[in-house]
Amino acid sequence: MTTSSFTLLPFLPPAFLSSAACFLGLRAGLLSVWLSGFLLIALSFYGTHLLSSSLNDPIRDSGFSHDSSSPRITIFTAPPPFDGSLEDRQSLSVRSWLALSSHVTVVLFSQHPSVSSFAQRFDSRVLVDSSIDFTLLGTPFLHSMLKRSEAYVSDIAVLIDPDTILLPDFVSTLNYAYELDRDWLLVASPLNFPHFPFYLDEEDRCWRQANGRRVRIRELQKMINQNGQSNSGEGKIVMAWNNIGGPLHGGVIPPFLYQRGIHNQWVINEVLTCKDRFVFDASSTMSSFFVSNPENEYTGDNNSVSRKRNWEYVSNSHLGQLYGSLFFSDKSSTLPKLLKCNKRYLFVNASDLSIVPSMAEVKTYHLRERMSGWRTREKISACISRRNSRSVKFSSFQKDQPMPPLTFPFHLESLLLLVADKNKTVVLAVAGYSYKDMLMSWVCRLRRLAIPNFLVCALDEETYQFSVLQGLPVFADPLAPGNISFNDCHFGSRCFQRVTKVKSRIVAKILKLGYNVLLSDVDVYWFRNPLPLLQSFGPAVLVAQSDEYNRTAAINLPRRLNSGFYFARSDGPTIRAMEKVVKHAATSGLSEQPSFYDTLCGEGGSYRVGEDKCVEPETKLTVKFLDRDQFPNGAYLELWQRRDVRGECERRRCFVLHNNWISGRLKKLERQMMSGLWDYDSSTRMCVQSVAT
Ligand SMILES: *[C@@H]1O[C@H](CO)[C@@H](O)[C@H](O)[C@H]1NC(C)=O
Ligand SMILES: *[C@@H]1O[C@H](CO)[C@@H](O)[C@H](O)[C@H]1NC(C)=O
Ligand SMILES: *[C@@H]1O[C@H](CO)[C@@H](O)[C@H](O)[C@H]1NC(C)=O
Ligand SMILES: *[C@@H]1O[C@H](CO)[C@@H](O)[C@H](O)[C@H]1NC(C)=O
Ligand SMILES: *[C@@H]1O[C@H](CO)[C@@H](O)[C@H](O)[C@H]1NC(C)=O
Repeated sequence: MTTSSFTLLPFLPPAFLSSAACFLGLRAGLLSVWLSGFLLIALSFYGTHLLSSSLNDPIRDSGFSHDSSSPRITIFTAPPPFDGSLEDRQSLSVRSWLALSSHVTVVLFSQHPSVSSFAQRFDSRVLVDSSIDFTLLGTPFLHSMLKRSEAYVSDIAVLIDPDTILLPDFVSTLNYAYELDRDWLLVASPLNFPHFPFYLDEEDRCWRQANGRRVRIRELQKMINQNGQSNSGEGKIVMAWNNIGGPLHGGVIPPFLYQRGIHNQWVINEVLTCKDRFVFDASSTMSSFFVSNPENEYTGDNNSVSRKRNWEYVSNSHLGQLYGSLFFSDKSSTLPKLLKCNKRYLFVNASDLSIVPSMAEVKTYHLRERMSGWRTREKISACISRRNSRSVKFSSFQKDQPMPPLTFPFHLESLLLLVADKNKTVVLAVAGYSYKDMLMSWVCRLRRLAIPNFLVCALDEETYQFSVLQGLPVFADPLAPGNISFNDCHFGSRCFQRVTKVKSRIVAKILKLGYNVLLSDVDVYWFRNPLPLLQSFGPAVLVAQSDEYNRTAAINLPRRLNSGFYFARSDGPTIRAMEKVVKHAATSGLSEQPSFYDTLCGEGGSYRVGEDKCVEPETKLTVKFLDRDQFPNGAYLELWQRRDVRGECERRRCFVLHNNWISGRLKKLERQMMSGLWDYDSSTRMCVQSVAT
């Protein structure tokens, strides 16, 4: 199955609903009330200081700012890999940000080496952060980026598209906003500037024409604002917010994909709904633009890249529908606008063009009033109507607008090509919906260990959709039993038997496609990467975990082959032996585990060799049972009962620890979470970003 459409996902916890998110915001708000007394004093001191310095410095708005009292600004973005023509454009925008002020730091979210080598050119002013969640195609998740951005200390945070270029009036606008007496979110729509014949010179201080002539910033700003084309989509929006009061908003952001539509609108709406921040549109007071490049934008083309990208846009639309109270068109058009008339900033109500008296405005009004010569109502109105034209435009959505089907363009063969490592090896997990959190924790653990070559086989439609939205390399087993019981699919149950039989069938299929498989149940916690060791046993050897708990007994005794963690090579003997296991399991009333043992080690262990091997006489496949000290099962040495399970396993140099030999889904989950062998936060839907690995 490669196509699916759905109306409502059952995995939607109530905390994702808008009102609940606001409730979370409120609680954070209470804390900030306690803190704000002190902050207000500091802020107003800071504000007045800033004001006096700006009055003494009339050219403050026109050039590069190096004022030591300016707020520290951190600009966050996630660029695609820097290659070819893209590199010049990307590099131009990043350099334009750094040229704004020495207070600007840039954080690039990326895993790609080209981005790291690019960043090295700028010393500590450009940082690369790879510790966020990405999809299998390397698309970053917005919720993960925003969460991670909280780790950077800064006065103002900016989220921007990687190819948006900024000019110094951006910083002037931020400096103004920084004086506001409350938390705020600024949004702005960059202009589209198809032919931009200027470059930043070597020192990154001056913009120049192709012939080398210097262009004044004022001229450039004027030209951009006069000749830039309005940006029609809501895809590109610059967002900036003061960072002191805490996160952008207190709610939980669905797993939106960055730069794949909808998410900016969703975030803005969420902040508006929660009323914690003053949201305004500053499109008119700052010059931001991008040089449009048709190749790089989503056009709905039929080539393979855009077909693969297409589902990412659809995925965001689905999330928007699911988690959104966002789909209205009127609220956004009433965002107050920040305008600048004769060097004075004004907030204007976009619907009736009246001046909104606001916070900092009230503080600075009289001073500025006296300083500038003109103040007739007519002049202000004229200026307002002249400058009112630019604003952020939102697409209008209908709440129950029909959604295109969520089409995931990968089937098993294309996923194998995409994820397998150089040795054509994949790590396979087979999971049903009742284990989705454990699946995610397992995935997060593999990501932490930098093991990218994993695949997920979904046993049901819900797991499939959940995994698609989480950006996992997932395929559905068309023959999977339909309804996997939620709580009762434990060892020995009929449900368990059906599930385990899927596993050997899928493994055999992948082996026949030419790939080696490490099958790992999602309740196997990985401490270290076992692949190099497992691949060292050579051909015609199947390596498996032993389920024997008796310390002194042989590890290859009857029925002690654990079919939840084994490595199978794509070679003749292994494929033939796996086919025998599948055939045996299909006719057996038991689960798959006895089929494995009885087929490969003989009934009663008649093919045993020594204390840790079996040799199947027909195919000559050797089964090697893994050393239990390195690959302990859930009963061996009662490791799960230790006070410090992780410490104990690390001391013993375990590769993995299986959370088996326990009955019941909840007990299993509890045991693993309580021992800290858990890497997923299901409330924020992100991998836990802990410092320790
Ligand atoms: C898109 O490409 C597929 C195969 O690559 C083809 O079957 C289909 O007709 C194409 N659609 C359009 C609208 O060109
Ligand atoms: C803007 O003006 C409209 C129409 O006069 C009014 O309904 C609305 O409340 C005003 N908005 C703000 C933020 O003052
Ligand atoms: C689903 O479960 C119900 C009982 O819980 C059972 O009657 C039904 O046959 C199952 N459907 C499938 C497709 O397995
Ligand atoms: C590939 O297999 C060889 C041994 O066969 C091993 O040394 C090497 O580390 C493996 N490569 C990867 C990426 O696992
Ligand atoms: C463990 O195995 C040994 C034989 O190696 C046996 O004597 C002993 O009774 C077993 N212990 C348990 C608890 O089964």
